[in-house]
Amino acid sequence: MNWKILALAAVAGAQLAPVEETTSTPELALLMGDLQRLTHKLALSADAGNTELAAFYLHESQEQLRKIQNETPEYENIPVALLIDRLAHPAYVPMQEAVAAKDAKRMREGIHAIVQACNACHTATQHAFIRITPGTESNPFNQSFAP
Ligand code: HEC
Repeated sequence: MNWKILALAAVAGAQLAPVEETTSTPELALLMGDLQRLTHKLALSADAGNTELAAFYLHESQEQLRKIQNETPEYENIPVALLIDRLAHPAYVPMQEAVAAKDAKRMREGIHAIVQACNACHTATQHAFIRITPGTESNPFNQSFAP
């Protein structure tokens, strides 16, 4: 088929498509997906003993958690902001201290505390089937985590 006809058909289709109802609540799963990526990179940096990079992803992770709290304080009757305050934020303290002390061994322990908090909240919110792991066995990114 001629590409012009294809393009016209696409435009016509777009105009005819019913306007989808937009909800004002951002999709929590998408925000969690970003948090997952940042957590994985934090784990890979910590595992490699890369203090500078771990500090960066630590900061980004904590910022993402605050973003989730602001954008979806409640989600489908789940008190997300409250649970993040109780379960998630405290779990970052050991990592914060390890990064400040440039202590590679404690950074590796710190990642376990964080991953446990992710899973504790998934369990508390009937999402225990979403199981997070440190994921440090291999690096799936086109990025080096070495110091
Ligand atoms: C408020 C408690 C809470 C905390 C803390 C939490 N999650 Fe979630 N997470 C949820 C809920 C609830 C869902 C399901 C969202 C939905 O139904 O759309 C979810 C979904 C997910 C998903 C599925 C979405 C996807 O992209 O595959 C991933 C992955 C995820 N969380 C990762 C994490 C990671 C990593 C952490 C820790 C750094 C974490 N979560 C911490 C409550 C939490």
